[in-house]
Amino acid sequence: MANQKLRFGMVGAGGIAQAYAQAFDSCDAARLVAVADLRADAARALAEGAGCHSYDSYQALAARSRLDAVVICTPPVTHPEIAIYFLERGIHVLCEKPFSIDSRSARKMIEAANKAGVKLTMASKFRYVDDVIRAKSIVTSGILGEIILFENAFTSRVDMTNRWNSKPSISGGGVLVDNGSHSVDLMRYFLGPLAEVHVVEGKRVQGLEVDETVRIFARSESGVMGSIDLSWSIDKELDSYINIYGSHGTISVGWKESKYRQSSSRDWIVFGKGYNKVQAFRSQISNFAGAIRGEEQLIITAEAALASVEVIEAARNALGQEHWIAVGRHANNGRARLNGNGLHGNGIIAPALRKSVPAMAR
Ligand SMILES: NC(=O)c1ccc[n+]([C@@H]2O[C@H](COP(=O)([O-])OP(=O)(O)OC[C@H]3O[C@@H](n4cnc5c(N)ncnc54)[C@H](O)[C@@H]3O)[C@@H](O)[C@H]2O)c1
Repeated sequence: MANQKLRFGMVGAGGIAQAYAQAFDSCDAARLVAVADLRADAARALAEGAGCHSYDSYQALAARSRLDAVVICTPPVTHPEIAIYFLERGIHVLCEKPFSIDSRSARKMIEAANKAGVKLTMASKFRYVDDVIRAKSIVTSGILGEIILFENAFTSRVDMTNRWNSKPSISGGGVLVDNGSHSVDLMRYFLGPLAEVHVVEGKRVQGLEVDETVRIFARSESGVMGSIDLSWSIDKELDSYINIYGSHGTISVGWKESKYRQSSSRDWIVFGKGYNKVQAFRSQISNFAGAIRGEEQLIITAEAALASVEVIEAARNALGQEHWIAVGRHANNGRARLNGNGLHGNGIIAPALRKSVPAMAR
């Protein structure tokens, strides 16, 4: 079996690359043969642990390793350039989220994959979590009735002051782009295409150049409401990260346990044991390898990745354009605008502005 494993390379040997190294360790479908990082020492350290080669550039990795596929684990702005480099050489690409920071470059990545006839997908780990997949089939079965509300939250305190995540030229934006890429992908998985989004930004307490806390409101084409809370500055300390409310019941996908309850019953039914990071990364690699071999469909197609980028793009535009309805004494003062730093101006009154999501994102 070992000889039949696909040969994977990895670009980037930072934080998330460590999770991949662990997943490759126990993966039947693929093995890590080489890693590249501009920080040669980081590449070497990861390679030593994984028993593979290391390089100080992705070009050297491509030239000197016989690769079937590559995983891109570098900061967002670098994704299109690196992905296209490998795609043009006939190497399949699994690219970490966010797929890219704008839809224009995402389209170029897809064009390169189509031209070369190779597979391209976005890494979005929650889609490979067993509980998420089971929750989707429970929702689809109809036992919770008509779905009315979807809620998701990814919040935890992380000091981003000295990380690339807070530099828009590298990250493409703040928590909205970072954690939001996971959220939008999950929301689209459960609700289908999204039609419109509205975003409200919270206070910036880390003094970053980018958004640290946001709430996204969305509506699916089928009319289901959704809300997403994202933050690097607060921790909501919730047991679950997805809650879906239907006319006949509720389902909750949790970190340690997942369960649902039909309104006709008093009992919650537990259907999953929670989030397992290594399992999710391993399943992601296995699905990608299966798709390369022609044995499986990609769980996240390149087109679905583009759709997520387009939703984030619409949400980012909405972020700069929040309008509020002023209440009480504020309403008497004319126009006002509330943003992450507080209430500005003199009262307002503008209809909530929504940003519609482009056709592909649907
Ligand atoms: N799926 C998840 O849960 C998850 C979690 C964290 C990060 N990510 C994503 O993974 C990617 C990497 O994030 P990270 O936290 O591991 O970042 P990181 O800063 O820890 O690591 C990135 C590495 O890439 C290297 N690098 C940068 N440009 C390069 C280039 N041109 N060629 C070779 N190496 C280069 C850096 O030297 C660094 O070691 C991002 O897209 C991020 O959004 C995903």
